[in-house]
Amino acid sequence: MVVLTARSENTKPQGRLTMQTVEIGSETLCIRSLDWDRDRFDIEFGLQNGTTYNSFFVQGDKTALIDTSHRKFQELYLDALTGLIDLSTLDYLIISHTEPDHSGLVKEVLQLAPQVTVVGAKVAIQFLQNMVHQPFQSLIVKNGDRLNLGNGHELEFVSAPNLHWPDTIFTYDAKTRILFTCDAFGMHYCNDYTFDEDSELIEADFKYYYDCLMAPNARSVLSAIKRIDKLDVGIIATGHGPLLQHHLSEWVNRYQQWSQEQTKADTLVALFYSEDYGYSDQLARAIAHGIQRNGVAVELVDLSDAEPHEVRELVNQAAGLVIGMPSQANQNAHAALSTILAAAHNKQAIGLFETGGGEDEPIYPLRNKFQEIGLTEAFPPILIKEPPTQVIEQICDEAGTDIGQWLTRDRTIKQIKALDNDLERALGRLSSGLYIMTARKGDVKSAMLASWVMQASMNPLGVAVAVAKDRAIESLLHVGDRFVLNVLEEDNYQSLMKHFLKRFSPGADRFAGIKTYSASNGCPILADALAYMECEVTMRMECSDHWIIYSNVQTGRVAKIDGLTAVHHRKVGNHY
Ligand code: FEO
Repeated sequence: MVVLTARSENTKPQGRLTMQTVEIGSETLCIRSLDWDRDRFDIEFGLQNGTTYNSFFVQGDKTALIDTSHRKFQELYLDALTGLIDLSTLDYLIISHTEPDHSGLVKEVLQLAPQVTVVGAKVAIQFLQNMVHQPFQSLIVKNGDRLNLGNGHELEFVSAPNLHWPDTIFTYDAKTRILFTCDAFGMHYCNDYTFDEDSELIEADFKYYYDCLMAPNARSVLSAIKRIDKLDVGIIATGHGPLLQHHLSEWVNRYQQWSQEQTKADTLVALFYSEDYGYSDQLARAIAHGIQRNGVAVELVDLSDAEPHEVRELVNQAAGLVIGMPSQANQNAHAALSTILAAAHNKQAIGLFETGGGEDEPIYPLRNKFQEIGLTEAFPPILIKEPPTQVIEQICDEAGTDIGQWLTRDRTIKQIKALDNDLERALGRLSSGLYIMTARKGDVKSAMLASWVMQASMNPLGVAVAVAKDRAIESLLHVGDRFVLNVLEEDNYQSLMKHFLKRFSPGADRFAGIKTYSASNGCPILADALAYMECEVTMRMECSDHWIIYSNVQTGRVAKIDGLTAVHHRKVGNHY
């Protein structure tokens, strides 16, 4: 029997980390981890007012915990949680989103509650399996699925992909009218107030958070708002900051308005797939990730239940179309494909991928039809003959990057032409060396010519590299990832530079024809480099159109002690 104690107090200060537990509805607790002084939130953005990580507990005849907390709260959170409930009787652990600020203590909760069933979107359960490395019972839920806890607490799940990862779900409890949204509608703001009484105090943080996390997925925000519109919501229980109750409709309206403004300006790719068929979902999201890297919006549409007028409208708006082959037996998908073909036009880019369901619509006849209409193929058809591996996901990600780059090529050229003034010429006098970054993660390898590289610390030894956001290698350079920084030599850099500046098709081996050997961190060392350093990424900072990747240097060698580093001299600072 779970003992549910309602409290509203701050407990156990540990420096500037504290806990707050509050009853926010009938048999519903909010367990807030208050991080008062956090001044940088992971990779996303600087913080001024700390943050909170909110977890929730609902007690019907059965019980559910919704999300956990950040690892830094391990002792405080688990103390608070075990003081409130007997984890050995916990029935469900609902995962709204697997980013570690919410799922950082899932492993510990699983150890204390091995009987629990983990509930989440398909992709969330997959992510989690890779994170916790231990077996657990799971329940995959889709939009509209329900879970009855008893005593009136019937939970309904709302699919909200891309807010802020592809794995996100909202959970709605009709008894308490509470909608649990994790990142969406949140803000990084830490104070004792559980709710949003003072909207003026928090509105700047609400907007800043929207701009950083939600604006790039404005279409997904609008889809999610449409999905929750039918729900009678009294409280939005977010994963960060105060819960929204006192100005609820105003906050939702702001999200809607900002997202509508955003989508009007966006270049858009319509990505059609069949959520439940083959590996369509997984592959579509990898492609979407690559597209968004270029600042291009993506709208995912399930061919199985798409309305013809929505398909037509979307194809009319889109600059690019990507289609995952549906099952030959899917009549609705066939009708949608005919609508797409009728609405497509020759100014658009097209990309097609098989989905590996065993009876895919043949890809080449459809490709021929789009070519007859005159669409530009942004990447070659992606063929799936086996369950997707890391390599295939990387091919999808790079294919998405390619279509995004093609759609933004005019913008890039305009930027180069527009800014050639005195300031840009002055900036061009900043010189730098020439390097090849080589990275490996599992079976996936990549490489990039880099010139914005500098030593950034001495103890520990650290380097910073600026990596443009539209570079596919970016996904191999997250915190904890490893790479090799190869230094090019003054008299021996032309052929390597030329090779790595080439345009590679998705999945192409960047190292074909290049002499390499393996570093102790598994990444390729270029045999013709003047020197190399093995690095581990410890921090990422978002700087407009680039990521600054700060890394500790773990080992290194110089091949030619008298050799000089190749230097890159530019004329203007608005391109490389
Ligand atoms: Fe608050 Fe995307 O994690």
